[in-house]
Formats: sequence, structure tokens, C-alpha cells
Amino acid sequence: MPDTEIKDHKVKVWDLPTRIFHWSLVALVMIGLITGFLSPEWWMGVHLWAGYGTVLLVIFRLVWGIFGSEYSRLETFTFTPREVIAHIREVFFLRPTHYIGHNPAGALMIFALIFILVGITLSGLLVLGGEENQGPLAGAANYQVGDLAAGIHSTLTVILMALIVFHVFGVFTEIRLSGENLIKSMIDGYKRVPDSIKPPTHRDARPLAAITAMTGFAMISGSLLWAFSTMPPSGLLKMTENEDFQTECGDCHEVYHPSLLPRASWTSMMASLDDHFGEDASLPPKTAIAITAYLSAHAAEEWDTEAANRFRNVSPEAPIQISATPYWVRKHNEVDADIFKRKGVGGKSHCKSCHQDAASGRFDDQNIKIPKE
Ligand code: HEC
Ligand code: HEC
Repeated sequence: MPDTEIKDHKVKVWDLPTRIFHWSLVALVMIGLITGFLSPEWWMGVHLWAGYGTVLLVIFRLVWGIFGSEYSRLETFTFTPREVIAHIREVFFLRPTHYIGHNPAGALMIFALIFILVGITLSGLLVLGGEENQGPLAGAANYQVGDLAAGIHSTLTVILMALIVFHVFGVFTEIRLSGENLIKSMIDGYKRVPDSIKPPTHRDARPLAAITAMTGFAMISGSLLWAFSTMPPSGLLKMTENEDFQTECGDCHEVYHPSLLPRASWTSMMASLDDHFGEDASLPPKTAIAITAYLSAHAAEEWDTEAANRFRNVSPEAPIQISATPYWVRKHNEVDADIFKRKGVGGKSHCKSCHQDAASGRFDDQNIKIPKE
């Protein structure tokens, strides 16, 4: 029987909120991926907003999966494994059964995408809190947790990209097999359905119930996050300024934060002030002892910031030079050598010229601003 003889009619399948959800998610995931892969340090703010936006969209979709109109409801595309396998077999033989809403393979993909997105955003919050000491989990997650979450965050991202490729591939496969332009139907909401298929009794959306549920959900998760965010950031010491340190060590250059070198480095630096990077920076013994004690008490080992964790590894050749540590070198190798020569910068050791928060020892990505000249 030639295709042209099959009579069909148009059915409104995707309601407006589902369509807006779909394309907003596409946009946010793209922004998240691009800003995540392009140096995250620069695009951190945008990356975070894409992440928070994704969380909201996913929550919305789950709520809409209960209160949306017929084909948006999760139960209309929850299939048994047997149905999924049967469907894939049919596709393989190029004779898939017609589904008005999501077919079983597509449905499985949606659940997988949502599951991975939840994992990515949660691990992202842990990275932010643990490594960067920012966001609602700054107090709850320590650096180690953040480091572990960073591995999970990037692994899940690779899985997400693979899923996206499969999803798009699946959509184009179905377009070929059914002749139905699925992309268009995700824009205008309509699909052509053969007359032979009887649509189920259509259940309308319950927007009021959805709004109530969203509000409830937002209030519960919002207060949960708020409760977490009242915890002080983990691993930051309360530090009183030491006057000797400020005046003596601030004489020739900016005062470096004590968390930027481990105790052993500070001790050996303080023991050799007469030959300090080619200068004589010697101090009266009493002052030197007091500053050494102060630096020891606040050395890298005592902090749990990203910088402190990283700068504990010093270069064996130059153990008292922050800008020679492997991490420092790795983080700045994309910064052009000429930039360090700019008048407004003044060299590698002038952290403050580019890091507006250098004095706090945090070195947040958002606080980098390179002088133009
Ligand atoms: C007489 C001047 C002078 C005084 C006083 C001085 N320094 Fe320095 N310091 C230098 C010079 C010069 C360098 C090398 C800077 C460069 O490479 O651009 C340096 C470099 C450093 C560095 C390494 C910076 C990097 O790029 O990694 C640290 C850390 C440091 N000083 C700590 C101290 C401390 C702590 C004191 C106080 C006990 C102190 N300095 C006092 C002159 C001084
Ligand atoms: C010319 C400007 C400049 C100077 C001077 C500079 N930095 Fe940086 N720093 C950067 C830039 C840009 C990045 C981000 C590099 C990237 O990841 O693409 C960075 C990254 C970092 C990071 C990593 C931040 C993170 O969370 O990933 C740390 C820590 C850091 N710098 C510490 C220092 C210290 C300590 C000094 C001084 C000894 C210093 N920087 C001097 C420009 C500078």
C-alpha cells in the first residue's frame, strides 16, 4: 500500500511549556558546554548561571511531567524494558510502530538525559563549593570532595555529549522512517497521526497545580540550599593581621598571603633573608622569629582553598617561589609573556595586579582582571 493512501490528521502533541522547556534546555546546555570547555576561569559566571538555569528547567520538567497535558506526562512515555527492546528491534527492521508522543527509545533517552543533567548540576555545585569555596555548598564540601566531584562532573559531561549525539541521531532516524518532521513539531507542537491510530483520551494540563508544585519545590530546595549556605566556607582560617609581617614584607613587594606556600618553604625563606631573591631582606632576629611563627601558623597546610591545596606542591629547584610551583606555571602558561611585562602588571610576582582578591588568598576565577597596559 503506497504511503499516499494513508489518511492522517494533525494532533497537538507538545504543549507550549514543553516546547519552551525543550529549546531553553538546548540553549542552556550549549552555553554550559561551551563555557565549560573554553577556559572555565573566564566564563565561570555564565557557566554557573547556565547550571542554575538547567536545575530550574529540570525541576520544571519533572513537575510538568505530572501536571502537563497528555503527552508531556511522564507516565505516557514510561515503557517496560521489553517494550523498549521490541521497539528497537522494529526500528532495526525499519517498521516501527507509530507512537504519537515519545517512542520507547526516545523516552528512555529523555530519562537518561534528565538523570545525567541532575548528576552534572549536583556535582557542579560540589566542585564550586569544594574547590572554589563558593556557592551554597562552600561550607559543606571540602576541597577533597570538590576534587572528586570535578572528576565526576567531567565524566558525566562526556556521557551527556554522547547522549546528545544519540538523541539527535534518533530524531533523524525517526524523521526518515516516519516522514514526520519532528523538529518542526517540537516548534509548533503538531504531529501528523495516521487515522488508523486512535489517540488516547486527552488530559489537559493543570497549570495551577503545576505552579503550586513548582513553588513548593522551589521553597523547599531554596531553604535547604540557604541552610547550607549559612555554613561558613570550609577551610578558611580567621586571620588577624600581623603588623611586622605587613610592614617588613610589604616593603619591596605586595604582601603575599601565607596560604600560598607550605610551612617548610616559609621557614627556609625566613632563614635566608640575607639572600632573598638576590636582595638583602634581613631582619632583626626577634622580628624574624615572630614573622616565621605567624607564617607557620597560617601556611598552606592550614587552609583548604584551591590555591592552598595546590601551592603545597612546590618546585624542587625553587621551593620558596610561588610563581615557580608546578600549579602556578600550569595555570599561567596561557598568559602571554608580554602581558607580564605590561606596566600595570609589573611581573609574575605581582599577583595583585591581575587578581583583585589576592590579599584574601582566594584567587577566585571571577576576580581576575588583567590590566590593559
Ligand atoms: C629588600 C626587598 C624585599 C623584602 C624586604 C622582602 N622581599 Fe620578598 N622578594 C623580593 C624580590 C626582589 C623578590 C623577587 C620578585 C620577582 O621575582 O619579581 C621577592 C620575592 C618573594 C617571593 C616569591 C614571589 C614569587 O614570585 O613567587 C615571596 C614569597 C617573598 N618574596 C616573600 C617575602 C617575605 C615573606 C618577606 C618578609 C619577610 C619579604 N619577601 C621581604 C624582595 C624583598
Ligand atoms: C598577568 C596577570 C596575572 C598575574 C600577575 C598573576 N596571575 Fe594568576 N592567573 C591569571 C590568569 C589569567 C589566570 C587564569 C588562567 C586560566 O585558567 O586560563 C590565573 C589563574 C590563577 C590561579 C588559579 C585560579 C583558579 O581557581 O583556577 C591561581 C591560584 C593564581 N592565578 C595565583 C596567582 C599568584 C599567586 C600570582 C602571583 C605570584 C599570580 N597568580 C599572578 C593572571 C595572573
